Amino acid sequence: MFLKLVKTLWKPLLVLSGFIIAAIFNRSILGSLGRETVAIYQAVMPYAIGMGLWASAAWLLDNIIRLLVWEPLGRRVKVPKLVQDIVSIIVYSSAITGIVGSVFGKSVGAFLTAGGAIGIVVGLALRNLIVDLFIGIALNFERPFEIGQFVKMTNGPSGQVTEINWRTTRIVDSSGDMIIVPNNRIGDAVITNFSRPEPASALEVVVCLDAAVPPSRALRVLNAAALAQCGTHRCLDKPEPYAQVRAITNHGVEYGVVYYIDSNKAGPAWSRHLILVSVLEQLHQAGIGIAVPKQDVFHSPMPQRIFDTRTNEDRVTLLSRVELFAGLTADERQHLSNVMQERLFKSGTPLIKEGDAGESMFILFEGLLDVFASTPDSAEPIRVARLKVGTFFGEMSMLTGEPRSATVKAACDSVVFEISRQHMATLIEQRPQIATTLTESIAQRRAAAAAARSNATRAPFDDQRNFVQQTVGRILKFFGINNTKA
Ligand code: CMP
Repeated sequence: MFLKLVKTLWKPLLVLSGFIIAAIFNRSILGSLGRETVAIYQAVMPYAIGMGLWASAAWLLDNIIRLLVWEPLGRRVKVPKLVQDIVSIIVYSSAITGIVGSVFGKSVGAFLTAGGAIGIVVGLALRNLIVDLFIGIALNFERPFEIGQFVKMTNGPSGQVTEINWRTTRIVDSSGDMIIVPNNRIGDAVITNFSRPEPASALEVVVCLDAAVPPSRALRVLNAAALAQCGTHRCLDKPEPYAQVRAITNHGVEYGVVYYIDSNKAGPAWSRHLILVSVLEQLHQAGIGIAVPKQDVFHSPMPQRIFDTRTNEDRVTLLSRVELFAGLTADERQHLSNVMQERLFKSGTPLIKEGDAGESMFILFEGLLDVFASTPDSAEPIRVARLKVGTFFGEMSMLTGEPRSATVKAACDSVVFEISRQHMATLIEQRPQIATTLTESIAQRRAAAAAARSNATRAPFDDQRNFVQQTVGRILKFFGINNTKA
């Protein structure tokens, strides 16, 4: 110890002794000097010796404190370097104050006031540095983390703290690099200290497996994976690691593998790596893969985008969209599509003329038609209806044998299919219900046409019903069909 004292203190002691000797022999030295040198010596030397005395005394005191206070204390508790630095600053600042007061004979109060003013200016210029300093002091007193502990900072690094000084905190991350974080950044950050309150810190890795893997099997494999790594210096075997189901997602089932590390000895990054490697190995051995994003794909026939009315198949499909024939069987539709005739009418061309004899009816497949009926009140026929695709017309004359009740003209280029009375008769014989549907439509259309002609409202519902009942019977008779099925 004595040897160490001498070894550490001999330099400041020597310098201090030098200045003390200079102070004692100050006058006798004077005698041995020339006149001019004496003048300079007299002006400068007392200050130099005085300053030297204070400075070397401060140097000696700083070394004594380090040797007798910090080093013995440091063997029991880790004394932050910042505290040591602050004590040194106080020692040297006292020496400067002493120089101002005793060497230069100035008022210490005025010096401190001036120092305060200068301090404000310097403080403004160095405010970041000063914030660092104060947060550094707060960190030392509050001790949210200590040297050797593992921490994680929001928007900052994670790793092991190696030093907290008056301006920065140094952290060594998982890749072994040192990260120097200014203390003011730590003041804003949310810090996770893995070593507090207990050194055993629980960590979790999440693995997503396919929903088809039975949970009991998945948990068995994942438990084994965690256990395989525990008991090493990275992961603790007590508390025991475990696996649990965390969530069910679109991708599969999320399992969490929870394990513990001694945060004073190991960081989270490397232990996570070890556990994940172990999990992958165990899953590989068990033949279980990690879940991947997936979608069910199945084939369905392409929808037909364009129908060709020249093909029988497409005509059958188009017929099924006509409400009148919706109830027909596939064979009946097939037969009808074979016998009906396609006709194209240019815009403005009449398809049916009022008063003509009617031997067929029509279905409008493409285009638009206008129905005109003559009226006693006007020289020109008036439009009583507009027919859209999928509707039938010409049924009145065909079913009753009466002349056409109206003129039907193409409002634009239109495609219709014509069905002769003979073919309709065959169909009605098989499905007398069609006669009823057609007759109902006749009743409505007649009423609508009459209303349009006289600008009156439609015929009452009861009148229409009577008309239908009477007319259906007549129609079936006209076609020579037994009416019991209708
Ligand atoms: P038909 O009388 O054979 O010939 C003219 C066609 O015009 C007629 O059959 C009906 O199909 C149709 N028709 C007559 N009046 C109307 C109406 N008010 N609404 C819809 N279509 C009509």
